[in-house]
Amino acid sequence: MTEERPVPPGVDPNRPSAARIYDYAIGGKDNYAVDRQAAETVFAIAPEMRSMARQNREFLGRVVRFLAEEAGVRQFLDLGSGLPTQRNVHEVAREVDPACRVVYVDHDPIVARYGDALLATGDGVAFVQADLRAPDDYLGHPDLTRLIDFSEPVAVLMVAVLHFVPDEDRPADVVARLRDLMAPGSHLAISHVTSEFRPEEIGNIVAVSGKAGAPWVARDRAGIMRFFDGFDVVEPGLVTAPEWHPHLARPVDPGKMWVYAGLGRRG
Ligand SMILES: C[S@@+](CC[C@H](N)C(=O)[O-])C[C@H]1O[C@@H](n2cnc3c(N)ncnc32)[C@H](O)[C@@H]1O
Repeated sequence: MTEERPVPPGVDPNRPSAARIYDYAIGGKDNYAVDRQAAETVFAIAPEMRSMARQNREFLGRVVRFLAEEAGVRQFLDLGSGLPTQRNVHEVAREVDPACRVVYVDHDPIVARYGDALLATGDGVAFVQADLRAPDDYLGHPDLTRLIDFSEPVAVLMVAVLHFVPDEDRPADVVARLRDLMAPGSHLAISHVTSEFRPEEIGNIVAVSGKAGAPWVARDRAGIMRFFDGFDVVEPGLVTAPEWHPHLARPVDPGKMWVYAGLGRRG
């Protein structure tokens, strides 16, 4: 039997959370029975979701490495950062340049607890608990304004998060608001579950996730591409996660993959 983590204040261990389900899928320990059950329900419909979560995380590492090494970006705003795990953004970026600055944002109280303790390691790295749908709550936060200068190139990361934001919450408007702040040479990285390849299974997963209390929305290719309005999409374009800069990746089976990934650049 799995020994449960203590429950930090403000955290409801009886309601599944996207952050903890994802943590379980990528092999972490910061999750409760309700999250494991929700994840296993999804894996029963589509066992490949587990490896997709890992491949998504690997895309995150590759895109951060690319941004630091090849695009010369030194400041990162990671929206929907998730629980601290292996290869966190500041660790990857700082392998290229220890001066890289990172602000992590997530709305989940468990991420806030562990994020503050484990991600905000001091100089140049901060965690802000906020909802990405309310940009005023984080853009004006003193920890963000201390570390992120929008007059210089910045990378905004929205990796495996926009599929938790339904259209009625106007995610494209949030992205556009950030885009309009971003200096030339800034980048937007997105990964997103898509309904494009296996609509029936995805429909079932969306339905069970909604019922379990951790709803999400899968978008088609056009629905994901519209987040890149006003950006030039960097080669190889919007592709499945393991196909994005695979020369930087461990070899993976690109089949059975329903996560699109892409990187846009502000000209
Ligand atoms: C699947 S995890 C992805 C974590 C990380 N970006 C990665 O790809 O490895 C999604 C994260 O987004 C967070 N999230 C979902 N909706 C959010 C919102 N509206 N505002 C801020 N964070 C959100 C969840 O709490 C969760 O930690």
